[in-house]
Amino acid sequence: MKPSSKSRPTAFVTLLSAALVVVATAAQAPQNAQRPAAAATPPPPPAYPAPTNLKVLPKNLTGQQVHDIMKQWNGELGVRCGACHAEDPGIVTTDGPARPALAEDSKALKEIARLMYTMTEQINTNYIVRVAGSSMPVTCSTCHRGNIGPEPFTIQPAGGPPPVQAPPSLEERPQPQ
Ligand code: HEC
Ligand code: HEC
Repeated sequence: MKPSSKSRPTAFVTLLSAALVVVATAAQAPQNAQRPAAAATPPPPPAYPAPTNLKVLPKNLTGQQVHDIMKQWNGELGVRCGACHAEDPGIVTTDGPARPALAEDSKALKEIARLMYTMTEQINTNYIVRVAGSSMPVTCSTCHRGNIGPEPFTIQPAGGPPPVQAPPSLEERPQPQ
């Protein structure tokens, strides 16, 4: 009926094949262009994201470095992450409990740990450095020894086992030649 309706299929096919050529070229071109760059696929996201709420640790630590310190504290205090970090009820996972909200400050022990870290740093930088030749900085475990509350030290009663090794008297120490 319409004069143009007769030529439409032909025009459509022409258009379609033109489009296919464009698509094929487009599909090929980036492939060739990207071949050298293909090796440099974007790196996977870091396993431990950069910290956002450090108040006492150096602010330029990477997520991995913070994680390593945290694992160290776990061992030195004999606790798990949840001792200082609350679980975030807002984060629901399908395959387990809520993940901890690690940047959040809702647990009292986290604040105490900040005090303890600052105290430990001050002991080392103000006092231990002044002990000539000392190579033993104070760490959490110097006091905690794997316990969240340091164990009280009890002096052996008289008649108990002898001291492991009495230090040599001044006269017994090797004299410089
Ligand atoms: C003894 C308490 C304590 C334990 C145990 C602990 N943390 Fe922490 N964590 C802290 C404190 C304190 C900070 C904040 C340090 C600061 O303010 O500089 C922190 C900060 C972090 C941060 C940085 C969050 C941010 O974005 O600022 C991460 C991540 C983290 N902890 C993960 C862990 C993991 C994982 C564990 C267990 C392997 C763990 N923590 C165990 C006390 C603890
Ligand atoms: C000079 C000794 C010493 C050092 C070093 C030390 N602490 Fe402590 N810490 C203590 C004492 C003492 C307490 C109080 C224990 C109590 O009252 O039961 C304590 C308490 C704590 C508590 C609170 C425990 C609770 O149940 O209330 C946390 C958390 C803690 N320390 C973390 C740390 C961390 C983390 C480090 C290293 C960054 C550290 N401490 C280094 C001596 C020390």
